[in-house]
Amino acid sequence: MTTPTIELKPSARPTSAGEREAILANPGFGRHFTDHMVTIKWTEGRGWHDGQLVPYAPIPLDPATNVLHYAQEIFEGLKAYRRPDGSVATFRPDQNAKRFQRSAKRLAMPELPVETFIEACDALVGQDKDWVPAHGGEESLYLRPFMIATEVGLGVKPANEYLFLVIASPAGAYFAGGVKPVSIWVSEDRVRAVPGGMGDAKTGGNYAASLLAQAEAATHDCDQVCYLDAVEHQWVEELGGMNLYFVYGDRIVTPTLTGSILEGVTRDSLLTVARDLGYTAEEGRISLDQWQRDSEDGTLTEVFACGTAAVITPVGTVKRSTGAEWKQSGGETGEATARLRQALLDIQRGITEDKHGWMHPLG
Ligand SMILES: Cc1ncc(COP(=O)(O)O)c(C=O)c1O
Repeated sequence: MTTPTIELKPSARPTSAGEREAILANPGFGRHFTDHMVTIKWTEGRGWHDGQLVPYAPIPLDPATNVLHYAQEIFEGLKAYRRPDGSVATFRPDQNAKRFQRSAKRLAMPELPVETFIEACDALVGQDKDWVPAHGGEESLYLRPFMIATEVGLGVKPANEYLFLVIASPAGAYFAGGVKPVSIWVSEDRVRAVPGGMGDAKTGGNYAASLLAQAEAATHDCDQVCYLDAVEHQWVEELGGMNLYFVYGDRIVTPTLTGSILEGVTRDSLLTVARDLGYTAEEGRISLDQWQRDSEDGTLTEVFACGTAAVITPVGTVKRSTGAEWKQSGGETGEATARLRQALLDIQRGITEDKHGWMHPLG
């Protein structure tokens, strides 16, 4: 089945330059949206059709729309960056497109072709490129592609109609006052995902399931939750929205993908960037007890989290429900963490050579 090209129907009344600049001066995260969105429909028997770029607007939904009841929904998150010459590029959109296909498959949804996913992102960024913040800081334009089941009816079954959309939101620097280590609450009873479940799919239900544990973390004065495996409750998996890395001097280790961990694009990129910088980078299993022991005896020199939002976030404090608590790297940002963060940021912002062909320039 062929896929549609995207018909451009831009807004006759886009945001004024003055208003846009005021938003870009302090965008925050996910609070403001650009002037347009892309929509593509899928219908059983017809496939993908009616690709359009239209003014950003609410989408009317019948109260019995399938997604509102059974959560057949998937999404992605990626960023467009302004480069020193003023041009704009996205980071590894093919990886997000492929993960979107894997998520679709897990949720019994139709798979959007990789090239259509990229074309939709390009169309939106191309139309709204004035919304991409200036080069120089850590600001970017965050893209949120997503797909929902739009069949009307309460039958529990894969829908026969879907809507794919891409919206965009300018994002401020994650750490406004400089990189600050986060505190982690290790949830030893609540789990995020189970073997055979959908932890490796980027679907809203996983995030709904994480909110209670996140609220519990806050009552323990922690910023983020770390989840363990759902069977033995001892193997470290990931945070609610970021993957983890453990630094043993020149060796960095990230938990092996088990099916219940989201395969982060940043996680994957860092395996390569770390090797480029001379580290040994590998996947492996780390238990919570080992984490505590290796931190206390000093062999585990740093721990950091990674994801599209913050690139790399140092872990400063770890708290367990047993009452044990320790400072990681003395609560400071470690050297490897800072080096890897800068190296990846420099690639994304077009400051260093893109030797792996990760940047996708527009136009
Ligand atoms: C649960 C979870 N793990 C890991 C990540 C990091 O993935 P990425 O590096 O692709 O942003 C995210 C963010 O998307 C996430 O939501």
